Amino acid sequence: MGSISTHVLDLPLLKSQPSFETIRKSLESLTLPPSTWSSTPAVPPVEAENTPLTSRYLTAILKNPFDWLFSHPQGMSVDEQRDILHDLASQRLTERCGRSAQGEMSRTWTLPATSNHESAVDIVIREPSLTGDDLGLKTWGTAWAMAQILPRLRTDYLSHLFPEAPSPTRGKQDGAGGCGSETKGGTPPPPAILELGSGTGLLGLSATLTLHAPVLLTDLPTILPNLHHNIALNTPLLASHSASAHAEPLDWSAVHTGAAPQVPLIVVSDPLYSPDHPRLVGRAISVHLLPDPSSRVLLAVPLRDAATRALLLDLRGRLRLHGFELLGAGEEICRDDWAASRGHGRDDEEIRCWWGVWRWQSERWKFAV
Ligand SMILES: C[S@@+](CC[C@H](N)C(=O)[O-])C[C@H]1O[C@@H](n2cnc3c(N)ncnc32)[C@H](O)[C@@H]1O
Repeated sequence: MGSISTHVLDLPLLKSQPSFETIRKSLESLTLPPSTWSSTPAVPPVEAENTPLTSRYLTAILKNPFDWLFSHPQGMSVDEQRDILHDLASQRLTERCGRSAQGEMSRTWTLPATSNHESAVDIVIREPSLTGDDLGLKTWGTAWAMAQILPRLRTDYLSHLFPEAPSPTRGKQDGAGGCGSETKGGTPPPPAILELGSGTGLLGLSATLTLHAPVLLTDLPTILPNLHHNIALNTPLLASHSASAHAEPLDWSAVHTGAAPQVPLIVVSDPLYSPDHPRLVGRAISVHLLPDPSSRVLLAVPLRDAATRALLLDLRGRLRLHGFELLGAGEEICRDDWAASRGHGRDDEEIRCWWGVWRWQSERWKFAV
């Protein structure tokens, strides 16, 4: 991957008819790595300042027939060289146009070392190119914000369910996870954690790595192939951390009483974007949470706009009606890379997300559906 230190004024002038190799190297030097919203800015200031000029330069490359090129010493025809240059320019442009314009990408999300895992762990997540309404093919900022505070939430709200940080080998000996993932074959261990609307699986995979308990990732059937892929990508990591994950379809609109599984912890991040969602999510939680006073729900919702805030209020009211009470809540900064660049480098929009930990109200768990 090229460096991003190239200033647009240092790029070769096309009217000077530079060679194929010179243009190719310049285009590679303009590569922007995928953002993971870490503390290091994904777009260094020099690039941010240059984006409109850089985009103009890239567009000029796309329009250029490169009629001064001649056959490459390695046997590439002029047409092949032109195609390579046009492809590179088009990739560099889409990197500057927001997530929705980009093709498939893989990002590495690094959970820092904690008492739950002694060294930092790198979770690799594939995001296919976005098609139609499949919002679950992208990783959303709330999932990453929650993944990072899981160790704190475990200490404050979940230590009775997940009391200790086992050594990486403990799960393998006693069967409490540690057997990797579904890709190893055999029956998956019963889940202790259920994630609803997992999307690409970042939060659920972080949960099994932090809490050392088996997780079941769920979403709509169209999202499942990518979830299976992401579990397989992380199988060696899970196996070495007493973690295990598998994935199944679970449509909130098809949830019914008596549906398996019931678990002591449900995690849900960014599930509300249609008027039906508060009702469907509230019901799915009440059906799948184990009817026990120790059970917990971690719900996180980004406060994007008035509409999302209204959906969250609706869901909070419904959770109370289902018999839940709020045990603790907070807000975190999260970022999304959905928007297109507005001329200031890539636009990783910063917003707040609300999270709450819920439990059954006193005695109400006995009457759960
Ligand atoms: C905005 S995305 C969030 C994905 C993931 N939780 C994250 O934060 O990155 C919303 C997710 O809810 C899923 N979803 C929407 N309607 C659903 C339904 N009826 N049943 C199950 N999942 C649904 C979508 O497929 C998508 O994965």
